[in-house]
Parts: sequence; C-alpha cells; structure tokens
Amino acid sequence: MLIASLIERKRDGGRLSPAEWTELIARYTAGDVPDYQMSALLMAVLFRGLHSTELDALADSLLRSGDNLHFDGLASPVVDKHSTGGVGDKTSLILVPLVAACGVAIPMMSGRGLGHTGGTVDKLEAIPGFRTDLSLRDVERQVRELGCAMLRQTPEICPADGRLYALRDVTATVESIPLIAASIMSKKLAEGLTGLVLDVKTGSGAFLPEMDRALELAKTMIGLGESRGCPTVVLLTAMDRPLGRALGNALEVEETILALEGKGPPDLMEVTLALADEMLVLARVAPDHAAARRLLEKTLASGAALDMFGRLIEAQGGDRRIVDDPSLLPQAGAVEVYRAPATGTVSQVEPRQVGRAITELGGGRRTLEDVIDPSVGFVITAKPGDRVTAGEPIASIFARDKAGIETGTRALGQAIVIGEAADPLRLISHRVTSRGVEVLS
Ligand code: URA
Repeated sequence: MLIASLIERKRDGGRLSPAEWTELIARYTAGDVPDYQMSALLMAVLFRGLHSTELDALADSLLRSGDNLHFDGLASPVVDKHSTGGVGDKTSLILVPLVAACGVAIPMMSGRGLGHTGGTVDKLEAIPGFRTDLSLRDVERQVRELGCAMLRQTPEICPADGRLYALRDVTATVESIPLIAASIMSKKLAEGLTGLVLDVKTGSGAFLPEMDRALELAKTMIGLGESRGCPTVVLLTAMDRPLGRALGNALEVEETILALEGKGPPDLMEVTLALADEMLVLARVAPDHAAARRLLEKTLASGAALDMFGRLIEAQGGDRRIVDDPSLLPQAGAVEVYRAPATGTVSQVEPRQVGRAITELGGGRRTLEDVIDPSVGFVITAKPGDRVTAGEPIASIFARDKAGIETGTRALGQAIVIGEAADPLRLISHRVTSRGVEVLS
C-alpha cells in the first residue's frame, strides 16, 4: 500500500476502500506510517469528508485497535454518557454516581482538557489521590462491585484513536464531523454498552458552534451507534456561555458536591437531570421520563448519589473526606471578587475566553507535558440576561498569586459583556434519536 497515493486520492475527493482504511489504521498503530503522512491524510479528510462506507471502516478499525470491556452476565444494564466538550461542564462527575445509585452500571472513559475546554479526567485528578489509570480488568471488577468506574483512555482501549487524537490536536484537524464521530463512538463502543447518551454542545464555546453542524454530528454518531447494536440518544445543549458557576478543576468538584446534594446551579441541574433521565429510560430502569425524574430526585434527596460519589472516590484511591469537607481540595493562593464594571444586562459570558483564561492561570495545558494547578479558575454567578448594577459582585477569581488575579481580572473584563440585551441559546434545544429530530420548547 502506497500511503502517498491514498493521500492523493482523498485530497482529490475520492474514496478509500474499507480494506484500505483497515490496513492503514493497523499500520499506523504499529508505527509503520509516519505522523506527517497521517497528518496530510487527516487534513484531506477535514476538507473532503468521508463517505459512509469509509466512516464505518474508520470507526471499526479504531475500535479494533485495542481491547474492549466485557460485562457478560452482569444483571444491570450498562449505559454511558459523553459530551463533545465545553467550559464548566462537570455533568459527568454528577451523573456517574447519580445514575449508578439508580441501578445502572457505568464504565465511563473520559479525556483530559482539550483546547479551551475542560476535561473530566483533570477534574477527577483534583481530588487528592484519585487514580484514573485503571486497567480494563480493574474497571470490569469495580463496575461489577460498585456499579461505576471513571477512567482515562489507556493504551489498552482504542490506542489508534489515542494517537490520532493527539495528532489532530496539534494539526488543526479536530473540527471534522466524521473524525469526531469515529473518535468518540469507537471509544464508547469499546466500553461494551447497552445504551449511550450524548451531549452535543452548540454555540460559540463548542468545537462545532453552528447548530446545523452539531445536528449533523449528532445524526452521524447515532448512525454509528445504532448500526452496532448500541441505542444512542443525543441532546443538543448550549455552550454559548459556561455551564454552572464554577470553572476550574477543584472548583468544579466542589460544585459537583453541591449538585449531588440537590443544590447545584439551575442550568447545571437541568442539563444533568435531562441527560440522566435519558440514561435511565435507555437502561429501562424507568419506564418513562416522568418516572425517571422521580427516581433521580429521590436518589439525590436521600443522599444515595452523594454517598456513591464518596464510594467511587474511595475505590479509586482518592480522599473521600472531600465530600463532607471540600476545603480538603486544593485551595488557590489568592482569591478576589470581580465586580460589574457597568450597569446593564449581561449580554455575554464568552466560554472560549474563560476557558483560555483558566489555562493562562495554570489550570489547563499548553503542551501535553504541562502539569496543571487544580486550584485555579473562576466562579461566575452572572448569566446572560441578568440585570447587574455597577460595583455588584458577579464573579470570583481563584489564582496562584497577585499576578494571576490581574490576569483573571483582565480576562473577565473581556469575557463578560454588559450591554442592553441578551439572546442566549436555548439550554437544551434538540433531542435526536434514530427516529428523528425533536425541537424542544
Ligand atoms: N472528543 C473525542 O473523544 N474525540 C474528538 O474527536 C472530539 C472530542
């Protein structure tokens, strides 16, 4: 197989056969195809797209590049959720213990922060001692015993996607619908699921900001899931502003504890409960959405969800005392209140700027080797549409030192726009299934 001729064919709008994709991915995983040729091919895919037969072959090759999780004989349904990435999105941390406490098994594999978006793995690792590098056999054992596990992608599972993803991150080839769909779905299908719920973000802070592209991504992932025996439901949710109030790794763990006590910010609770509700219905633990909501609210109110979070932390080597005493989480060296610079309506809280500012404060990575500071970030209480008065506290900045406070203050000055009016996206705008697209009102 001559790799240059495959690149040429894709560049000129042609197709690679399923056998060519299979061989290409196998050879790339074995280290026989150099990154520069793979980068060129990825860029050609970004511009030319993939035919459905190519998408199927790519997803299957990524899936087959490693081992799978196996839950044969497990009585509980095995369901997971995945988000396309956002700022302040800590729904996975809340959902896993909540849904597991309702009787659904969840082996959740997540990523680290990527670009301006935060990553579930970084948030979990803000908990002192918490380990995410579980082996697949450890995950299977923990899910059977506890009902849930949260891990990072290891070389055991979809290693080809791990390498391709790192390459895409540094070659500006993330924003391709078929590449995102194959990447996400190969990892989720390797988890041995009986159902999957996806949160596809739209708006300025999403990887695919436009609604029509988000819908196309949703349909593409549903197609891959359903045709491989994994019923898949997608909710489209707004990422034109951060989700919840806490933004930054340790701060988001603290907000997770509040949410598991049923006291999280309304937008965070609404998105989390909508996704959890879909998971319970897919798992057939609840006969319908109304019953799912009742079960979720009962599980939060009884303390069972928070208790499950403590047990999950303990099972993965973390300090479970943070559940009762969040002050045991890493604490920022400097904290300062940010006040509204003018009177008016908050018209924008720009998630990309906030996400990049967290990286500048040390809470995200510029290179793969960077060690992050889990304590830094923001708590932004103002939301688009809120009326504010000049001088009113609307956020807090958590930094390492005085210089970080100045960086954070400058960033919030740009990210939070106060004007005359706001036009935020609907928080949960669409529900997409194999039967079609529902516009939610
Ligand atoms: N998350 C993934 O796992 N892969 C992508 O390509 C984008 C987001």
